[in-house]
Parts: sequence; C-alpha cells; structure tokens
Amino acid sequence: MSVVSAWAREDLDALSTRGLRRYLEPLDSPQGPVVQVGGETLVNFASNDYLGLAASPSVRAAAAAALERYGMGTGASRLVVGDTTAHHRLEARLAAFERAEAVLLFNSGYAANTGILPALVGPGDAVFSDALNHASLVDGCRLSRARVVVYPHADVEALSRALADTPARRKLVVTDTVFSMDGDVAPLREIVEACEAHGAALMVDEAHATGVLGARGAGLCEELGLEGRVDLRMGTLSKALGGMGAYVATSRGVADLLVSRARPFVFSTALPAALCAAAEAAVDRVEGDPELRERLWRNIRRFAAGLRVEARGAIFPIILGEPERALDAARRLREAGVLVKAIRPPTVPEGTSRLRFCLSAAHTVGHVDLALDALRRAGVHHG
Ligand SMILES: Cc1ncc(COP(=O)(O)O)c(C=O)c1O
Repeated sequence: MSVVSAWAREDLDALSTRGLRRYLEPLDSPQGPVVQVGGETLVNFASNDYLGLAASPSVRAAAAAALERYGMGTGASRLVVGDTTAHHRLEARLAAFERAEAVLLFNSGYAANTGILPALVGPGDAVFSDALNHASLVDGCRLSRARVVVYPHADVEALSRALADTPARRKLVVTDTVFSMDGDVAPLREIVEACEAHGAALMVDEAHATGVLGARGAGLCEELGLEGRVDLRMGTLSKALGGMGAYVATSRGVADLLVSRARPFVFSTALPAALCAAAEAAVDRVEGDPELRERLWRNIRRFAAGLRVEARGAIFPIILGEPERALDAARRLREAGVLVKAIRPPTVPEGTSRLRFCLSAAHTVGHVDLALDALRRAGVHHG
C-alpha cells in the first residue's frame, strides 16, 4: 500500500468507527419527488429542489436551446473568454428579481461565499458569523484572514455586544437567512438594526430562502422588505432554482470590485451558458407561477402539522443525537420507501445528528402522508 493509501485507510477506519464515513449513492433518474436509487424507487425527501424545477420541462428546454446555441464548455474564466451574453442576460434577470442595482454570478454557493468574504475584509478587519452558518461561510471567514467573531446562534444581543466591543477597521456581519440544517429563520430585522447602529456591513446567504420565502419568492429580505438595507444578498441557483451556480445581489461598485478580486470568480472557468439559460427560465417560473410556492407551502403546513412543529420553511430536522441513531432511522425509513439522509458532524454539531426532511412543491399530499406514516411506524421522533 502506498504511503498516502495507508493514511487514507487509517482515517477511513476512524470515520467508520465513529459512524461518520460518507458513501456515494448514484441516482438513475432525474431529480424529483420520486427517484431511482440502487434499483429502488423511493420518495425523495433529501433534495433542495424545493420547487421541483430541476427536471421541469421549461428549464430543460431552455438549457437544451442554449446548449445548441453556445455548446457545452465556456473554455475559460469570464475575464478571459468564458463570458457570454447568456451570463449577462441572467445577471440582468436576477437583478430585476432581487430589485438590486447589480448581480454577479458565481459557479456555486460555495465559490460565492469563499470568494466574497476575502474580497471585502482582511487582516485588521472583523467578520461576525452566526454559530450555525453554512460551512462555505465558515471557510470564507477563515480565508479572509480577518478576525472571526462567532456569535451564538441567532443571538442579536450577543452580536451587538461583539460589534460594540471589537475594534476593527471594517466590520462585516454574515448570516444564513434560513439555516440549512435547522430550517429556522434568522432574526434579520434585528440584525439589520444592529449593523446600522454599529456601522457594520451585512451579507446574508439566502440559499434556502430563494424561491421559498417572499411574495415573489426572492427570499427573506423580500419578505421583510429589507432588500435596500442588506449590503450583499447571496442566493444559489442550485436549490429552488433547480440548477447550479450562485449569485450576489449588491451595488454596482461592490460587484465591480468582486469581478477584479473574488478569487473563485477570477480563477475558475465560467458556468456553462446552458446553466445560465436554465436559471433564467427557473426565475421566470418562480416569479410567474406563484402556484408553485403555494403547493410547496401546502406541503410544508401538512408536514408541520403531522410533526406538531411550527411551519417555518421547507427544511425539517429531526434531531436524534449520535450518528448511529440517525443512520439507523434513515435505514428504517428507507425500508418504508422514504429517502432521507442522516446528517452528521461536521455538518452539524456533535450530539445533534439528525434526519433532514426537505419538502418540495412536487410532492403530492400522498407523499407527505407517506413520510409521516413511515416516521410513526418506525418510531422516529426528536430526542
Ligand atoms: C446556506 C448554504 N450556503 C451555501 C451553500 C452552497 O451552495 P452550492 O451547493 O451552490 O455550492 C449551501 C448548500 O449546500 C447552503 O446550504
């Protein structure tokens, strides 16, 4: 065995012993409410495809037409020769959707978050990050080399104290709006007020709010009427918009700076034009077809009522504790035809391994009831 293979074996054994090893499981079907996995047909509660757009005819058709017109690869970063009119059309469409002065695309939410933070803050600055922020924001904070102040989850008083007590040239607060593994919603109005009181800038990650919250589906900032008071609103194309990629809605000046300085933007090949066209079609659906969101919320309310929890959004964690308990619960649900994944550290804190159910507009009432029934039969509940 090579030296590095021996390292891998040692680390894999350690992960397995702790119930933390991960395995790939390829689908043999499109993304959707029902999927084929390893020869089984399962009702899918693991996907962030909240509106069922990933395989929808309008999105597929837009991608296919752009594929014909532009081909597959973009050949280079946007600053070299990978930029296309499809990228600019999508940015203009997203700016209108987000009611923003400017929008800049990134290749993924991970790339956006790890690119934006280091472009704006560095040594001598401070970034204030919610304790349950997504890993991509955590990594963006680390890469920035600014001082990182992690405040307790959704604790605006603690955030305000930290903002008052931390000397720094620039202060930037960063938070998910809908927390990806807990499904709860940030106290955004209070966070905005704290930032304004302390002269701090604010960046939010709307990955799980875009398409789900807001009258037009533009996210929590829209729902609360805070679009004009949040400096950077990052959204993904990969969840409710059913594709791949991400964007930030911000001012023209900030977008211009990111074009020159955000390393994942500068040093990575541009998104395929077909993905841009697909996302444009998806935004048209989100804005033009409110029934999609109504169907999603019908399912959310039904599932929440069945679990006797609050209906806050499409993500429902069932916290079970140790990894093995979550893995075992996922196995039992699968036997009942339900696909849901065990979420374990480091994705979530130690001792909080869980099942994470995601609802979609594409689920039928029958699918939702199947999941509730499977949970009851398998005896799976919090704690
Ligand atoms: C809150 C949050 N931000 C960012 C990302 C990363 O987005 P992407 O999957 O497009 O890289 C995710 C997705 O997992 C997320 O949940």
